[in-house]
Amino acid sequence: HEADAYRTDLMTITRFVLNEQSKYPESRGDFTILLSNIVLGCKFVCSAVNKAGLAKLIGLAGETNIQGEEQKKLDVLSNDVFVKALVSSGRTSVLVSEEDEEATLVESSKRGKYCVVFDPLDGSSNIDCGVSIGTIFGIYTMSHNDEPTTEDVLKPGNEMVAAGYCMYGSSCMLVLSTGTGVNGFTLDPSLGEFILTHPDIKIPKKGNIYSVNEGNAQNWDGPTTKYVEKCKFPKDGSPAKSLRYVGSMVADVHRTLLYGGIFLYPADKKSPNGKLRVLYEVFPMSFLMEQAGGQAFTGKKRALDLVPEKIHERSPIFLGSYEDVEEIKALDSPSS
Ligand code: AHG
Ligand code: MN
Ligand code: MN
Ligand code: MN
Repeated sequence: HEADAYRTDLMTITRFVLNEQSKYPESRGDFTILLSNIVLGCKFVCSAVNKAGLAKLIGLAGETNIQGEEQKKLDVLSNDVFVKALVSSGRTSVLVSEEDEEATLVESSKRGKYCVVFDPLDGSSNIDCGVSIGTIFGIYTMSHNDEPTTEDVLKPGNEMVAAGYCMYGSSCMLVLSTGTGVNGFTLDPSLGEFILTHPDIKIPKKGNIYSVNEGNAQNWDGPTTKYVEKCKFPKDGSPAKSLRYVGSMVADVHRTLLYGGIFLYPADKKSPNGKLRVLYEVFPMSFLMEQAGGQAFTGKKRALDLVPEKIHERSPIFLGSYEDVEEIKALDSPSS
């Protein structure tokens, strides 16, 4: 009975996805194989993050990536692990990573029907101080059998078939959607399995937390400034919102998903398109938010309707509880 120390019907992420895929008679398990390789990458990063302090993995790798950021060893290591795992899965044709300037076009003998866009290590500025970091990924399917090109991933987020993130924090949690809701799986290190712990996650309709880097306030445009003021000094006598900002998108979005509220990385004078990257940060998190009953808005349009022209393109993003994003949409649109 329930009181058993270990429930016997362990719902692992693999079993969960197999159940999901069995609804599609034509599916041949390709997605399950793809996902198992993403899961392998997450397990590797989880163990590397836990040992980082000891194995002197922290600190700079001495190289810089296309974003002009100093690459920390874990960024480079995680990227290598994910690229190798995804290519060897034999289920992908195009890979885009924050850490690689160009897309990886998989050699023909190893090609598959999926394209994966990912941020192998999100929040890397937080590695050295032990604050939660994560991995973010989004999945498209190839629409043709010709030579793959970057065009195959320059698609709106509304064409993604799946998205998720793994957060390396007090526990290692993988949050996934394949288009029919959002489910959370926690790594049981004694089994090396991700177990379903948060079935059918729904974001509260409204929250009382706002999450933004206030340090950029002097550069915000009018509507953003007005919205944040409203969070701090509500006119209608409602309580002011609390500010929570970790600085790792995965941690800030995970808290927003579970507790409700709003996460924003607006445009500002210095970064007219904001900072977060469309393919592997904005789209996957927007996909998850909508699947959990929330919204994601660029300041001008539904985030998933953006059509990226470059693989490292950025966009402002306002995402979270349905009602909170409605409030932002009601303002004359904050700068895109
Ligand atoms: P990454 O470490 O993958 O480059 O991403 C960092 C991003 C994101 O995780 C976070 O929301 C944002 O940078 C924080 O930016 P600020 O430090 O400018 O607030
Ligand atoms: Mn980075
Ligand atoms: Mn990131
Ligand atoms: Mn990153």
